[in-house]
Amino acid sequence: MIDAVKTDPFGEVNAIDVLDLASLEGRAEKVLGRGEFGYISEGSDDGYTMRRNTTAFQDVEMLPRVLQGVEKPDQSTTFMGAKLASPLLTAPIAGNTLAHSSGELGLAKGAKEAGIMMSQSTFASKPIAETAAVSDGAPYMFQLYMPKDWSYCEYLLDEAKNAGALAIILTADSTLGGYREKDVMNHYHLKGRLANLEGYNSGQTGVGAGGLFKESMQKLDLALIDKLASYSGLPIIIKGIQHPDDAVAAINAGAAGIYVSNHGGRQLDGAPGAIEQLPAIAAAVDHRVPIIFDGGVQRGTHVLKALALGADLVGVGRPFSYGLALGGWQGVKAVADHLKMEINIAMQLTGCQTIEDVKRMKIKTRFA
Ligand SMILES: Cc1cc2nc3c(=O)[nH]c(=O)nc-3n(C[C@H](O)[C@H](O)[C@H](O)COP(=O)(O)O)c2cc1C
Repeated sequence: MIDAVKTDPFGEVNAIDVLDLASLEGRAEKVLGRGEFGYISEGSDDGYTMRRNTTAFQDVEMLPRVLQGVEKPDQSTTFMGAKLASPLLTAPIAGNTLAHSSGELGLAKGAKEAGIMMSQSTFASKPIAETAAVSDGAPYMFQLYMPKDWSYCEYLLDEAKNAGALAIILTADSTLGGYREKDVMNHYHLKGRLANLEGYNSGQTGVGAGGLFKESMQKLDLALIDKLASYSGLPIIIKGIQHPDDAVAAINAGAAGIYVSNHGGRQLDGAPGAIEQLPAIAAAVDHRVPIIFDGGVQRGTHVLKALALGADLVGVGRPFSYGLALGGWQGVKAVADHLKMEINIAMQLTGCQTIEDVKRMKIKTRFA
């Protein structure tokens, strides 16, 4: 008797060796199509901000302490009540099936196995409910690109709430897509990978999957925060904050968290490295709400620097996409495990037993 062929939702997986996060890009280029690799790896315009995200970490220095009695540092932490094995987040990334057939399911499983926070984009290529079923109670957040159509927004918020999302991340820096030349040259676009849109369209009377295009809203303002919070009952975190005044305004308008990010240098090219903006924003936030940081993180020391400059949770984008491309969920876990190993060394060598010690660490920066 022939066994029924089952399709494994996690696809082909592979426990990859990770030497460092930076070298994943070159390895992933070999397994991805040109359009897919271009879409993931590029920044906007000249790529200045994308490169500066990582190089700016060189302008941050940690002052190590010795004789602090540190042994087996503990990098576990909590974020908005969720217990995490490490202060790491898979930053929201659109259309993950372009990296691996498992898409967001692989990302969610990798994050869960590594004990870190997962976030899912509005432009995900797997539906919210399916992804959350993989997370199955593991900490999960939903990222919202504000649709023009409020009923589609309600659908997304309802799905996210039913899926047990801890918070909604409203991305505010993408009211227009940055100019990315590789996508133009490769004629690349994400169409056909937007599972949430298809889920919504298929529920609309007389509209087939993909038949109803829901554009994102361009004119975003502070009043939205309260509207989203009131409807969903969930904390709203604002992503794409680069100016201290915007952080203060968002908090005054009801934001429950601030996400410092320049979208991995894919939106406004010419903005500073994200880490350069963190100290001033953290000072303005003054511990009123938690802070997430992302942009250019490739080392355990980068994670420590971000925490010491005011972050509570550190997002990583492209390296997880490359891990997913190379090994499915096991690749995602391998990237997280490697970063955790580097964080462990950095904590020991800076004299930090806990994440709270890291946050108190003395830091020197070369930027104003
Ligand atoms: C391929 C790709 C797709 C992305 N899609 C989204 C998205 O759908 N929503 C969002 O808020 N940010 C998106 N981002 C930005 C990431 O959430 C994050 O801010 C950025 O990747 C962090 O920089 P890093 O890649 O250097 O870690 C995307 C980034 C990349 C590289």
